[in-house]
Amino acid sequence: MDKKSRIDLKKVPNHVAVIMDGNGRWAKGQGMNRIFGHRNALTAVRETVNGALSVGTKAVTLYAFSTENWNRPKAEVTALMTLLVNSLINELDTFMQNDVKVNAIGDIQSLPKKAQKTLQNVVQKTSNNRSLVLTFALSYGAREEIVNTIKNISKKVVNNELSIEEIDEKIINNHLYTFNLPDVDLMIRTSGEQRISNFLLWQMAYAELYFTNILWPDFRKEHFYDAIIDYQNRERRFGKTSEQITSVEE
Ligand code: FPP
Repeated sequence: MDKKSRIDLKKVPNHVAVIMDGNGRWAKGQGMNRIFGHRNALTAVRETVNGALSVGTKAVTLYAFSTENWNRPKAEVTALMTLLVNSLINELDTFMQNDVKVNAIGDIQSLPKKAQKTLQNVVQKTSNNRSLVLTFALSYGAREEIVNTIKNISKKVVNNELSIEEIDEKIINNHLYTFNLPDVDLMIRTSGEQRISNFLLWQMAYAELYFTNILWPDFRKEHFYDAIIDYQNRERRFGKTSEQITSVEE
């Protein structure tokens, strides 16, 4: 039986977040430099997007560049930015054909001007697409996002646009970079590392975490389906008892 037919299409995660890890180790295994690994990561990105489209997942968020990644060697940072720009340009037609809306989160202002412009163009051109929201987390750090959120909410309080009593989870959600996205249901991290690494901390409060030893450049649609099947075999309780969950489902 093929993997996809084992998926219950009525219970797919709405929002899948991915930490694409292991490009460097994959390249090293081939006797090549780290940049070669990043270049070979694009197939895995395409396979993930196609996998998500084929099961009906509505949002995929990719950790493409963290705030900490600025500390990598300059040549690697430049190569990642070039790769981002070129792939956005090359994939635009495919995004349109597949009805994919592109979105970006993070400290976008800190990216090179060319990357900002390209992103802006692709985000605008794909803005009416509806099948899948593909979000690139760029110069992203969850703590930085939360600091930014607190500053923006505080400004509204100071300007009397909002009272302290009105601040609740919904208000916080609405001020995060991800204000237009649902909570993360499933987080996938490749390469065997079992950490969250400052990714979507608020949004992953109830997410199921899935770790695989596959290195990101080797990740394929079938691996994405494996993660969904694993997710569907778990019981999401959101703090309730097992019995309460069963009675709700019946
Ligand atoms: C982690 O592997 C990967 C990154 C820091 C960058 C992710 C970038 C891509 C997947 C390139 C393609 C993406 C876009 C958006 C064009 P690592 O370098 O940390 O690997 P290692 O842990 O084995 O060293």
